[in-house]
Amino acid sequence: MAGNTTFTMIKPDAVQNGYIGDILAIILKNGFKIRAMKLTRLTPELAGKFYAIHRERPFYGELCTYMSSGPIVAAILEKDNAVEDFRRLIGATDPAKAEEGTIRRLFARSLAENAIHGSDSDDNALVEGRFFFSEFEMY
Ligand code: RTP
Ligand code: MG
Repeated sequence: MAGNTTFTMIKPDAVQNGYIGDILAIILKNGFKIRAMKLTRLTPELAGKFYAIHRERPFYGELCTYMSSGPIVAAILEKDNAVEDFRRLIGATDPAKAEEGTIRRLFARSLAENAIHGSDSDDNALVEGRFFFSEFEMY
């Protein structure tokens, strides 16, 4: 059965460009409820840990530098079928290939700096949420 929570980050480029409010409005309008949220900043080491699954990929170094380049907004979101529905709402990894109206199509400029993260499975949603939030920060 599909789970009902996912984890997201509004990435440094989108925060820097002033898109926090616009992106949160779209997320809420699409039926997601916020269960946890914070403005924070990753160190390169923490970014590397978060994206460890990509450590053998050629873009890993660039990804860690980018994800620690400025503040992010981390959040746990709740909705039926959260992981799949949220991935659809953010669109393809490459904004040039993302569907019209998706968050990446609207706010991302490149494949590397693509405005927002969404968990890719129910298991990862839990792991990623716990990476940022303790039990008493989740409501
Ligand atoms: P995310 O994990 O951030 O939600 O993104 P995703 O699932 O759509 O894509 P994934 O394959 O997990 O890649 C993670 C992030 O790495 C950066 N990337 N850069 N330069 C490149 O070729 C490249 N490919 C991926 C993006 O920031 C991507 O979201
Ligand atoms: Mg991913």
